[in-house]
Amino acid sequence: MFGARCLLLAFRRCSSAPCPKHKQAARLRVCEALEAQEVAGDIKVQGWVRSVRSQKQILFLHINDGSSLESLQVVADPTLKHSDLTFGSAVEVQGKLVKSLHRMQNVELKAENIRVVGPCDTLTFPFKPRERQPLEYSRQFPHLRCRTNTLSSLLRVRSEATAAIHSFFKDNGYVHVHTPIITSNDCEGAGELFHVRTSDKVQEPGENSHFFNVPAFLTVSGQLHLEVMAGAFTQVFTFGPTFRAENSQSRRHLAEFYMVEAEMSFTESLQDIIQIMEDLFKTVTSIVLSKCPQDVELFHKYISPAQKDRLEQMLKNKFITIPYTEAVDILKRAPQTFTFQPKWGYDLQTEHEKYLVKHCGEVPVFVVNYPYDLKPFYMRDNEDGPQHTVAAVDLLVPGIGELCGGSLREERLHFLQSRLERLGLADAYQWYLDLRQFGSAPHGGFGMGFERYLQCILGVDNIKDVIPFPRFPHSCLL
Ligand code: 4AD
Ligand code: MG
Repeated sequence: MFGARCLLLAFRRCSSAPCPKHKQAARLRVCEALEAQEVAGDIKVQGWVRSVRSQKQILFLHINDGSSLESLQVVADPTLKHSDLTFGSAVEVQGKLVKSLHRMQNVELKAENIRVVGPCDTLTFPFKPRERQPLEYSRQFPHLRCRTNTLSSLLRVRSEATAAIHSFFKDNGYVHVHTPIITSNDCEGAGELFHVRTSDKVQEPGENSHFFNVPAFLTVSGQLHLEVMAGAFTQVFTFGPTFRAENSQSRRHLAEFYMVEAEMSFTESLQDIIQIMEDLFKTVTSIVLSKCPQDVELFHKYISPAQKDRLEQMLKNKFITIPYTEAVDILKRAPQTFTFQPKWGYDLQTEHEKYLVKHCGEVPVFVVNYPYDLKPFYMRDNEDGPQHTVAAVDLLVPGIGELCGGSLREERLHFLQSRLERLGLADAYQWYLDLRQFGSAPHGGFGMGFERYLQCILGVDNIKDVIPFPRFPHSCLL
């Protein structure tokens, strides 16, 4: 059927038009028009021209409005051709939806009127019709690249994945919390902070230079704020921008990225956290694959041809868990030489993470129980030895390396207090110690890098190609 629901919606949109006396054409999005099974009269489609082909008897256009990868074919009398009707121009086409003779599509729009709303200078426009430019090329035009098929597919996948993440947590009884973006705590303790201060115009010289009286930074993680909320709600999550002043030239690091974080109280086992991470990955990915199959296919076909099979393997198999100590042994026995020698007590490098995933058959791997001295103060002491570890977990995935990091949190006041005192942080984190004094429950959680997740499912090598606006040495930061 013509999507009775979408026609109804289209006519409702028209009924709010300013001049009710004149019958208005129903506005349809391209995806709604493409789904139509029946013909319909007096339809209006707005979008950007993806192709113009003029023949003696007939004029063909393809219009895209970002609602789907596929464009809508418009057929028109050549008299409707206008010199401004070019690739890239913004147009409004009014006409009738008719059955198409083309075997690839159900319907096409037979135009009665074509209005060029905004012309496009095709000579200086950096993209050309039917040209597939490499992602590096498009990256130079952060303000225009959303008009290419690849980037518009990416943005639809990003949007569906965002919605799927929210629904995963909502369906499982989590409360969503907006954690602060400006904060004075450095959750990860790695010092990769952006300092926030007022502009010189606001600040008189000689005044206290701190707007909040204390140094303020852009958040590196919402975890500590989630832990506050986990003192009143058993399951909470946040999904927001996160900032790290670390190497932004790498293919998997951004200065500004999105992190999904969850915190669960009354959780005593790392295994429970591992299960939620795996469920989140598999559920969200299945939803994305079902909601935007064509967009994902574009990446699997043109950007990373091996990714489709890889992703199927990831979804089909149970993820593997290995302790850090065993991971180091595997690396030491590896028949290849690494730039960084694997050694107990040292961080796993990306080359190590990728090797471990390959060793486990290209299935995601949870590495658990990392050395105590490697990890931040909040992780729960395993009280083991002589190799002292904490209840930490990292999820490593094919092609990327670390996708998620999490842990059980140290809920025992005396353990936490003595660790913070040794680090000279007990005063600064008195509020955090308070959480362990008033109804402290065992709890734990994790964070997943959203851009790395998109890289992983789509097979995109450079993280700058999965964000809406790449940060580039540019005359202005968009
Ligand atoms: O491992 P991380 O540093 O963990 C935390 O921040 C915890 N406090 C999370 C928690 O337990 N609530 O970061 C989590 C994930 C990483 O595994 C990685 O995927 C991503 O965030 N990430 C980055 N992604 C892009 N660019 C960067 N600079 C990133 N740094 C971390
Ligand atoms: Mg980490």
